[in-house]
Amino acid sequence: MSWNRKDLITIEELSSGEINTLFETADAFKKVLGRKTAKTPALRGKNVVNLFFENSTRTRVAFEMAAKRLSADVTSLDMKTSSTAKGETLRDTVENIRALAADIIIIRHSAPGSAGYIAKILDIPVLNAGDGAHEHPTQALLDCFTLREKWGDLKGRKIAILGDILYSRVARSNIWAMNKLGAEVTLVGPSTLVPREFERLGAKVSHDLKSALADKDAVMLLRIQHERQNASAFPSLNEYTSMFGLNADRFSWLKKDAIIMHPGPINRGVEIDSDLADSSQSVILEQVTNGLAVRMAALYLCNGGAAEAAIA
Ligand code: CP
Repeated sequence: MSWNRKDLITIEELSSGEINTLFETADAFKKVLGRKTAKTPALRGKNVVNLFFENSTRTRVAFEMAAKRLSADVTSLDMKTSSTAKGETLRDTVENIRALAADIIIIRHSAPGSAGYIAKILDIPVLNAGDGAHEHPTQALLDCFTLREKWGDLKGRKIAILGDILYSRVARSNIWAMNKLGAEVTLVGPSTLVPREFERLGAKVSHDLKSALADKDAVMLLRIQHERQNASAFPSLNEYTSMFGLNADRFSWLKKDAIIMHPGPINRGVEIDSDLADSSQSVILEQVTNGLAVRMAALYLCNGGAAEAAIA
């Protein structure tokens, strides 16, 4: 399976073959990262520009490091001091950056559809680092890549995603990715944050935590996204934690060897007990580490690299 995409905007539009091509390419780059000189010349001479209009730690650093490991030149614009504050449009911003000889743009923006919008305007690769509550494709890819490392593949596995689904681009991208890879996804949380409409994406919906966790191979916790909520979906964080926070007792409802995941940032003591986040069944930091190889693969493939060449 080859990769013929200029951009990585959504998981929805990817085939399972394309996802597996990206995983095989990430496998090769993970080997590169394990070498003494953890660098390849794949993007030498290319200008990669990071445009993060929303806060980020993991995604921004991982994309920057991934581009540097591929030998690209990397520029990260501080949006707080950019000319966006003077009223410049997103279209003008990216066209000016293109005029400065950018070869690849990585964008995180609060507006759903923003990454797809600039991908249509520009003739260079655009990678979506999160567009509002729409999609966060590289997060879902690194999540599934981590599960694939643990299980071999995701076929027939049962995964619960617990928390703020309504506002979560991570949940949306993971529902697409996990389903395409053959897993069954159950969304769990209060009905205000987990509406039945998500069944249309191919996920099960449950508001009963105990029965939802009973047969699951993995649970992914999501944080409550205050910044996207117009009105509180529950009375207080304490009430959310008392009803849906993952603690040792509730963790025992899952399968014995179940995996704990979280895309970060974690609100310790809110959606997950601190001890569980740091436990041997948690893969939270492995997810972060895998974000590097997965983003190297995404940059490399969107730049026109051949998967077979990366593997060789
Ligand atoms: N998971 C994730 O997107 O984290 P950041 O917001 O820190 O990039």
